[in-house]
Amino acid sequence: MRRKIIAGNWKMNKDIHETATLIAELRERMKEFKNEVDVVICPSYTSLVVAKSLIKDSSIKLGAQNMLQHDDGAYTGEVSTKMLTAIGCEYVILGHSERRQYFKETDELINAKIKKALSAGLTPIVCIGETLDEREAGITDKIITTQVNGVLRGLTSSEVEKLLIAYEPVWAIGTGKNATPEQANQVHKLIRKQVGQMYSWAIAEKLIIQYGGSMNAQNASALLSQSDIDGGLIGGASLKADLFMAIVQAGVESSG
Ligand code: 13P
Repeated sequence: MRRKIIAGNWKMNKDIHETATLIAELRERMKEFKNEVDVVICPSYTSLVVAKSLIKDSSIKLGAQNMLQHDDGAYTGEVSTKMLTAIGCEYVILGHSERRQYFKETDELINAKIKKALSAGLTPIVCIGETLDEREAGITDKIITTQVNGVLRGLTSSEVEKLLIAYEPVWAIGTGKNATPEQANQVHKLIRKQVGQMYSWAIAEKLIIQYGGSMNAQNASALLSQSDIDGGLIGGASLKADLFMAIVQAGVESSG
């Protein structure tokens, strides 16, 4: 059985003071659980150091929302893997649709970032997903297959074993429209099949595939109890302790 992971992508929200408040609330609520699922928070860069010290001695893990594929040098405004690992970051979200849309990130660039993150010992949470136009044109499967191929190009089996994939249909992000559990599960199965064909079924079976896109306290149980949905990557609902913990609770219950 794959262990579920519930990750909060805080996006460009919460300064260090708000970060401290939210982490205090999360820690309090985490006492209800016995580490049945992995819980990760991904605050903005400016909050990472303070977040790391505030989650000390808890089971909450830390992730960043992006990084650059170069070691160091003249890349104004960017952050390297070394900077992230030095502060104890374990995860990094790569290829989020907002990075693809607003910062023109391509599968090729995301692939380079994944390789760099893995070589630094970070666990990439690799995002893929179709837009509304693509879904309505009936080309979701083609888009997903192309993205899986593109972002994993040249990765070895042992590298693929160390990453997570998040299926985030772009039309469901921040819109309040989530994919139905069946719609999402169908795409998760497709991703698993594709990874199985590229690597092996043993690797595909172990691959953690999270769902992201308007996951909330109401729909989390139904989504997380699907056969191939192994967790959530949560935006809006990760900014409030009660809402995020309701999703963690759903993750615990669906872990059986
Ligand atoms: P929402 O949960 O706000 O739809 O965001 C999902 C997301 O983009 C997580 O990375």
